[in-house]
Amino acid sequence: MKLLPEIGLTFDDVLLVPKYSSVHSRSAVDTSTRIVGDIRLAIPVISANMDTVTEVQMAISVAQAGGIGILHRFMSLERQSEMVRQVKRSESFVVEHPITVSPNATVEQARAKMVETRIGGLVVTDDDGHLLGMLTPRDVLFAPDVLAPISTVMTSRDQLVIAAAGEPLSAARVTLHDHRIEKLPLVDDDDHVVGLITAQDIVKVQEHPHATKDQKGRFRVGGAIGVKPDDLKRASALVESEVDILVVDVAHGHLDLVIEMVKRLKANFPTIGVIAGNVATRQGARDLVKAGADAVKVGVGSGSICITRQVTGVGVPQLTAVSEAAEVGNELGVPIIADGGIRNSGDITKALAAGSSAVMLGSLLAGTDESPGAAVIRNGRRFKVVRGMASLTANIARKEVEKQQNVEPEVWEEVIPEGVEAVVPYRGSVADILHQLIGGLRSGMSYCGSSTIEELWESAEFIRITKAGKEESGVHDVNLL
Ligand code: XMP
Repeated sequence: MKLLPEIGLTFDDVLLVPKYSSVHSRSAVDTSTRIVGDIRLAIPVISANMDTVTEVQMAISVAQAGGIGILHRFMSLERQSEMVRQVKRSESFVVEHPITVSPNATVEQARAKMVETRIGGLVVTDDDGHLLGMLTPRDVLFAPDVLAPISTVMTSRDQLVIAAAGEPLSAARVTLHDHRIEKLPLVDDDDHVVGLITAQDIVKVQEHPHATKDQKGRFRVGGAIGVKPDDLKRASALVESEVDILVVDVAHGHLDLVIEMVKRLKANFPTIGVIAGNVATRQGARDLVKAGADAVKVGVGSGSICITRQVTGVGVPQLTAVSEAAEVGNELGVPIIADGGIRNSGDITKALAAGSSAVMLGSLLAGTDESPGAAVIRNGRRFKVVRGMASLTANIARKEVEKQQNVEPEVWEEVIPEGVEAVVPYRGSVADILHQLIGGLRSGMSYCGSSTIEELWESAEFIRITKAGKEESGVHDVNLL
């Protein structure tokens, strides 16, 4: 037995000491950060790979705001890969595979296709993919003969404004304006359709200039995997769907199986960034980096819905865990992600100041419009459900996905949960929440005299506080309205 001499600290045990600052406004603070390889985020926020937190809508909204979402793995690999494709399809500089329709399709069929695909502008091509025309909802809306071929109502090739493959977005913008059109088909030298630029996509780029996007203008997204033999297949399917980051996510990440999986991922998919975790010690971080991890996720038992520390007696208070892992991350040039226990923007500032490059948020985002599941009403107030991925119901759901059948009640009793099911207040949209959180972070960084996260690592000074200091830090001696 060894009793470590240091005391483990967490967010509420400390405050950041204000420092001389030449940062005059929050807008002068740069919150951008690198999380793996050359992937940078405008805001240091990652949505947790939990089934009550990150599916398609969350991944899109977090990436739109400048962070990134990690799709959870408690579903079939087909469904998870389809979610990656949905995120990727939702926005891009160029629509690479526009929806096409044959000139012989009837008005009625074209209308149905527009409804089914939710795409208004269909590209009309022959069987070899040559451009023949464009069809918009206006062309078919009041067409008197629903059985007429669309070749009779479309805008034909000779009247279309087109551009060559590789048209830069800036030039496309000018063309769209000059001709007062909304869609610009791209063709190769043989007049094959190779893409489509739409005014709508250009507007989205302008609206969210800091969104986390790949080279093709599509949102970046990560996917979680486990360490079972089948998880290599899952990783392969995710990579095929063009996932940007793989996250090997196991509650106890300082495990030979995690190290093995990281090695195999790096050998099989050398260009994909791998985040591995969760660990809570220097050695844990070092071993994962040695195996090839591009970033390490830190947090054992720190999450809001975790009961790991009660059930097992194991864990390290989160601020200490992050700062120790960050010493290794700093030495080896590998980002550290602080996962679990973040309750407000002050905790984000502290987690970054302790040396992490980004935070992973679970329950803080679980109450938003974009988290999976509907809101529930309790005593007239709206709530959303959040559950630990090691909770009883999540365990059962996982077994059901694996076995593809219902789990018998006897099996329920075999489960030893390390997480709980809970509700969190409904909190509106992800954009609103992140606006508040990042506003607070910017302010915190300026108090510390830091205009970048790297500067925060250098300048941060923590002071330990007592219970009285903690009480003083909250609202006190007043009755809240
Ligand atoms: P927050 O505090 O942001 O934490 O809600 C999210 C993180 O908690 C971890 N997690 C769990 N930990 N039992 C645990 O011990 C669980 O059932 C569980 N589910 C999630 C996970 O790291 C997540 O990102």
